[in-house]
Amino acid sequence: MKKLKVGVFGIKRGVAYADLFSVNPYTEVVAICDYDDFSTKKFLKDKKGITVYNNYDKFLEHDLDIVVLCNYCTEHAPAAIKALNSGRHVLSEVIACKTLSEGVELCRAVEKSKKVYMLAENYCFFAYTQEMERLYKEGIIGEYLYGECEYVHDCRGFWHILTSGKDHWRNWLPSTYYCTHSLGPIIKITNTRPVKVVGFVVPNTLSREVGRIGDDWGVFICIMDNNALTRVISWSTGPHDSIWYRIHGTKGVMENNRWRDTDVLNLYIVELNEELEIKEEKKSYTPEFRKYKEEVKKSRAWGK
Ligand SMILES: NC(=O)c1ccc[n+]([C@@H]2O[C@H](COP(=O)([O-])OP(=O)(O)OC[C@H]3O[C@@H](n4cnc5c(N)ncnc54)[C@H](O)[C@@H]3O)[C@@H](O)[C@H]2O)c1
Repeated sequence: MKKLKVGVFGIKRGVAYADLFSVNPYTEVVAICDYDDFSTKKFLKDKKGITVYNNYDKFLEHDLDIVVLCNYCTEHAPAAIKALNSGRHVLSEVIACKTLSEGVELCRAVEKSKKVYMLAENYCFFAYTQEMERLYKEGIIGEYLYGECEYVHDCRGFWHILTSGKDHWRNWLPSTYYCTHSLGPIIKITNTRPVKVVGFVVPNTLSREVGRIGDDWGVFICIMDNNALTRVISWSTGPHDSIWYRIHGTKGVMENNRWRDTDVLNLYIVELNEELEIKEEKKSYTPEFRKYKEEVKKSRAWGK
């Protein structure tokens, strides 16, 4: 079987993808691109047969079927457009684009190329978010009415590892721009899309201690295309991390645990009988991966 040839752009987060594509029987990693010698040397230590580039245009001249974008967060759209225009499939790290016009340009490039473009929003693929999607699609909680989702990640203790210099994107990116870890699963589970949005931020107080000038906390509310409301906490910094999703439907509600044992899913099915009595059934369990369970164990993906 001929394997698809994969090239990874950006070899920090990109190491996780290189590992994933190496255990995938249908793919092989043949090239990487990064201008940081330290990262490329560290990556290549126990590997052979991978060509290293420090220039993205030169990297695109390599024989590649798939380009994986793990370069700076705010520079994905132009890199994706170049790769699509050169006839490659693209897997892009979050976020897809930083302005509306970049988004339109990206969509047009995808349509014209007829190639696969995928945003690698890995939080949609936790065992419990996949289980929420299955339950929703089976109609267990009815139609989506209201949801909440949040991604609070206090990275101050390892900020120096995550950033390189004061202009690094993590130091200035508005909190609300990094919203896919929270909103992504809600969109995928309910198959609804935001059509209106209003948002606010908590001004920078805490993260300035480590050199960030962007806001500490971002909150926005979306009206979805079925009129449901979603309250989103985008990437925010504050004491105690939280990755949490709560979805209310017409027949029930589901959420993962918020503060501890967060892989546990809680499901409440509510019935109102003719006498207007409420009957509630509750179930709490830790869902397992239904697909790719063994591959998940072998890979070094961020997320579970
Ligand atoms: N999904 C997740 O859970 C998750 C976790 C971490 C990071 N990320 C995403 O991964 C991406 C990368 O983040 P990171 O943590 O690796 O840090 P980073 O953004 O600092 O790393 C980017 C890497 O790309 C290289 N690079 C950038 N532009 C280049 C260019 N023009 N030519 C050559 N090399 C170039 C840099 O040298 C660096 O090694 C970001 O988009 C981030 O949002 C996602």
